[in-house]
Amino acid sequence: MIPLITKDSKWILTEEGTSEKTIKQNETLFALSNGHFGTRGSLEEAERTREYSHSEATLVNAFYDSEPIQYGEWAYGYAEEHQTVIPVPNGKKLAIKLDNEMFDLDSGKTTNHKRQLDLKQGVLTRTFSWKNTKGHQLDVKIERFVSYNYPELLAQKITLTPHDTGCELQVAATLDDLEHMGMVSEEESNDPRIKAQKERQFQSERIEGSENQMLHIKTNNTHLHLIVGEKNNLSDSSVKSRFINGSENWSMETAKDRSVTLERFVAYGNIFDDGSKNESEAERISDLLDDVAKLGFDEIKEQHIQFMKAFWSISDIQIEGDDEIQVGLRFNLFHLHQAAGRDGLRNMSAKGLTGEGYEGHYFWDTEMYMLPFFLYTQPEIAENLLNYRYTILPQARERAREMAIDNGALFAWRTINGKEASAYYPAGTAQIHINGDIAHAVHTYIKVTGDQAFGMNEGLEILVETARFYAGWGHYDKKRNGAFVLNGVTGPDEYTAIVNNNYYTNLMAKHNFNYAIEMVEEALESNDVIGEMVLEKINFQKSELENWKKASEKMFLPYDEEQELTMQDDSFFHKEVWDIENTPKDNFPLLLHYHPLTIYRYQVNKQADTVLAEFLFSDEFSHSQKKRDYAYYEAVTTHDSSLSRSIFGMMASHLGDLDKAYGYFMDTALMDLTDLQSNTKDGVHAANMGGTWMSIVYGFGGMHLVKDTLHFSPRLPKNWTAVSFKVQFHGRVIQVSINHEGTDYNLLKGETLTIRHFDEEKYLK
Ligand code: BGC
Repeated sequence: MIPLITKDSKWILTEEGTSEKTIKQNETLFALSNGHFGTRGSLEEAERTREYSHSEATLVNAFYDSEPIQYGEWAYGYAEEHQTVIPVPNGKKLAIKLDNEMFDLDSGKTTNHKRQLDLKQGVLTRTFSWKNTKGHQLDVKIERFVSYNYPELLAQKITLTPHDTGCELQVAATLDDLEHMGMVSEEESNDPRIKAQKERQFQSERIEGSENQMLHIKTNNTHLHLIVGEKNNLSDSSVKSRFINGSENWSMETAKDRSVTLERFVAYGNIFDDGSKNESEAERISDLLDDVAKLGFDEIKEQHIQFMKAFWSISDIQIEGDDEIQVGLRFNLFHLHQAAGRDGLRNMSAKGLTGEGYEGHYFWDTEMYMLPFFLYTQPEIAENLLNYRYTILPQARERAREMAIDNGALFAWRTINGKEASAYYPAGTAQIHINGDIAHAVHTYIKVTGDQAFGMNEGLEILVETARFYAGWGHYDKKRNGAFVLNGVTGPDEYTAIVNNNYYTNLMAKHNFNYAIEMVEEALESNDVIGEMVLEKINFQKSELENWKKASEKMFLPYDEEQELTMQDDSFFHKEVWDIENTPKDNFPLLLHYHPLTIYRYQVNKQADTVLAEFLFSDEFSHSQKKRDYAYYEAVTTHDSSLSRSIFGMMASHLGDLDKAYGYFMDTALMDLTDLQSNTKDGVHAANMGGTWMSIVYGFGGMHLVKDTLHFSPRLPKNWTAVSFKVQFHGRVIQVSINHEGTDYNLLKGETLTIRHFDEEKYLK
């Protein structure tokens, strides 16, 4: 039995009853967001029964505060400031009193408690019956969604149906109880995967003079501003509300079976840094609240459902033969979609907007794990994610200078505002592969969409600047026959740090050079006006092309001839192999139980590294090579990172081991639902969710891009009867339907196209 998945629905997650054991994790699983803001699936009365809550946080993407990182010992170029997203006022808070007795799960008796997340509609519904200690009963239904149509809006509808006549029913809704929200306990705060700051970091004040309840919030150190507003509508307009300490209160007499409804709209505005704008923003938000309140909850819910319908019509993946995994898979796609910033200024954090883990930072997770889903289903979102990188190029250039590289840019390993926020450089800044990852995503985006406008502008600039950095970081090593080497780096595997020639990094850098060469040559040969302007702006010299060509050709890619194995880096095979099998189960993840230097002395991988390189550029390796490397690296990998399993699963598909691929896929797809990593309460594992999509499309579907053509080599696990998905490619929509007899490719939209199915060309019309 998979938690929350019931037999009867392929679209709905159901929580029956309440259990202290699962409710914290379910706050994450039931979190709702839209890329602009997100709110955890906490209970409306959570603050009164703390054991039922881990964090009620509502997070606005990139609304963060900073404070200096305190180092015991400082060194030049260390990241200077934490950047931490901070929970904003909770718009879900609600108090219900019957006969002057306050509802919570510990008072009176609650029965039939049920919560359902409808993935198709994007609506969370909670229902229960509450009998107070005097025996009076109330049926409660609360619906909640975060709107895509109105990105600022959290909409809630609370329906209360009394069983008795003549009781006093009181309801209070408030925005401003700022205590408790999103605090981690001391003991938990040592986990580096959670966060560095423990206190909230903003001031708030009420904005007077607005018809609606409005708060102006300002962060302490980053001086970011945000307006939060609320508007409540009670169905019985004869009941007038009273404001007490900022909360809106209604009091009425119950009549048996006569329901009262409260429609509650809360809006989280745009982040702005000019304090003088707060009045106009408050006006905008207040108007929005008036507009949506006029339309009413049901109408805007209908608009939301239509939006979700359009999303699913392109993004859904159907699996026949396993209903449980069907809903599990949709759950991943649902959360991925919720997580992506859409305005080109903000990105997608490692936990989406579902929790405070990793402080709301953006990592390589976006480009290498999450972006492919958007690229092939909603390329406009992929473009916006890449546009964010473009906006932080100035900070990346500055970072390169700090690293003593006088040309090009180095993107921060983890960041919100573009500056490096990783306080531990061996597993942070040293991961210079992030440049190659971003370059790879940029290049793939251009190939898949044909978006030359982006390619000749933002894309070109990113590719040149990232390539320049590698050219400056590496050198030609005489001791290696003049090969181009990249020393002192950390690859994706964070259990091996500061090494020379990490295979993955070198291969990504080699491709980064090639991408830059390709785009620059294209700009020059076609005399592209914008492209040439970009090159002029960044002072491009023709000699750079020659340098990159040489560095790419001479890139050192470590290989062990004796064992016929690809080497993760120069020193990996010189280390002792960690005894994974005899390591006590409780000592995983290793990072929480061993000093980094203990881990670094061994051959032990936190996550896919060389295998990822071979998966991405699989055409550059022979089948037998990939098989040998896979067997070797799988045996030394703990999968302590959630970014690992999907890669091993896809590679297993590619190598034809479908049982193994299926096993990895199940762990990947169900990771958060089963709390496989034991930290789902801190937020979903968004990269792994992207890995879930890739596992179907790249893994079982075998889809990959070779030059300008889509190739497929579908292989279905025996447990399923059919799988079908859609991809967008150069404005076309292709439906791929795979079963054990064969595969159908249907061109649903767009011009004719040739694709490849194994070795066979197929003309789609
Ligand atoms: C992984 C990184 C990843 C980060 C954020 C770490 O545990 O090792 O690869 O970027 O988590 O998801």
